[in-house]
Amino acid sequence: MTIVPVALGARSYDVRIEAGLLARAGDHLAPLSKGRRFVIVTDENLRGHLATLQAGLGIGSESIVLAPGEATKSWTQLESLTDRLLDLGVERSDHVIALGGGVIGDLVGFATAILKRGCNFVQVPTTLLAQVDSSVGGKTAINSRAGKNLVGAFHQPALVLIDPQVLDTLPRRELGAGYAEVVKYGLIDDFAFFEWCEANAAALLAGDPAAREHAIAHSVAAKARIVAEDERETTGKRALLNLGHTFGHALEAETGFSSKLLHGEGVAAGMALAFAYSARLGLCPGQDAERVAAHLRAIGLPDGLEAAGITASGARLVEHMLHDKKMAAGTLPFLLARGIGKTFLDKTVDLADVTAFLDAQPR
Ligand SMILES: NC(=O)c1ccc[n+]([C@@H]2O[C@H](COP(=O)([O-])OP(=O)(O)OC[C@H]3O[C@@H](n4cnc5c(N)ncnc54)[C@H](O)[C@@H]3O)[C@@H](O)[C@H]2O)c1
Ligand SMILES: [Zn+2]
Repeated sequence: MTIVPVALGARSYDVRIEAGLLARAGDHLAPLSKGRRFVIVTDENLRGHLATLQAGLGIGSESIVLAPGEATKSWTQLESLTDRLLDLGVERSDHVIALGGGVIGDLVGFATAILKRGCNFVQVPTTLLAQVDSSVGGKTAINSRAGKNLVGAFHQPALVLIDPQVLDTLPRRELGAGYAEVVKYGLIDDFAFFEWCEANAAALLAGDPAAREHAIAHSVAAKARIVAEDERETTGKRALLNLGHTFGHALEAETGFSSKLLHGEGVAAGMALAFAYSARLGLCPGQDAERVAAHLRAIGLPDGLEAAGITASGARLVEHMLHDKKMAAGTLPFLLARGIGKTFLDKTVDLADVTAFLDAQPR
């Protein structure tokens, strides 16, 4: 088993990673239960894993099974979930278990942040994206009319249990989208990990257990390090995790946050664009930008506007970016790169120049 500590003072917790962990969950969770039943929240696609987890707990549990999909991160679902948790008599000292992808993790994290002014929760992430990104770090949210993730709270889990074996049932496209967030850690500040990704991505995506476990553990350790330095995204360090997300957000908005472009696919194209733009500014060697694009292409991820199926003008895409919540006081911070593993936050980017760059991209 790999154990990655997330060091946040009184809010510190472990991320435990091991194949088959779901079936042995009781060893890790029973000490938290104090003889009380667990409530597990999951979605309909995860009934098989729910049964494994319930058997693995060895103690009684209730389950709440929600509809899969982004629409579940809503006010309506939040209200109904908190009512059901209250009906089940959940107390502040109880631990609600979130078994699912980022949708379930974000919703359950927020529901438990506000339930009785805060109760405990455990993340058991089942998508690659949730295992390497959303389950660690304590950002929780639902979507509102004004946009995605605009209503939420920082609420750290008490424990994160990752069983890489659950990825066996995850559709290949979802796996690839999650992989974009894995390679992101290499691009941010870890050239050696990017090289590992180039050599091992195919094995990882084919389900090789050792490659999968290494990628997850390395990604979680990178995220834990950044979150420990800047839990609430105040110093700019945590913002590095948004590499590719400003461009990517524009592409996701343009496709209506639909299944036409999954979040990770938008991030992949966005990272390629961030590197291409950095090269255009003369910050980053052109061959680094091409190397990033080539790697994304090799594993079937979009490497730019054309591959992402985007035909919108640069002006329209920049308009989408301006609606992003990360805009602070009229500026739009961009994550740019001086090379692979050398990402930095630039608050002086000229939006007219970004527009011209996007207009010049192949459609
Ligand atoms: N809190 C954060 O820091 C953070 C970070 C990144 C993303 N997010 C959020 O995460 C969400 C996206 O998460 P996601 O990509 O995990 O999507 P998701 O939770 O919608 O899961 C994707 C699909 O895969 C299914 N699924 C999940 N695990 C499966 C498995 N093991 N086998 C078969 N099917 C499975 C789900 O039912 C769903 O249909 C977005 O709402 C995003 O805003 C949050
Ligand atoms: Zn992301």
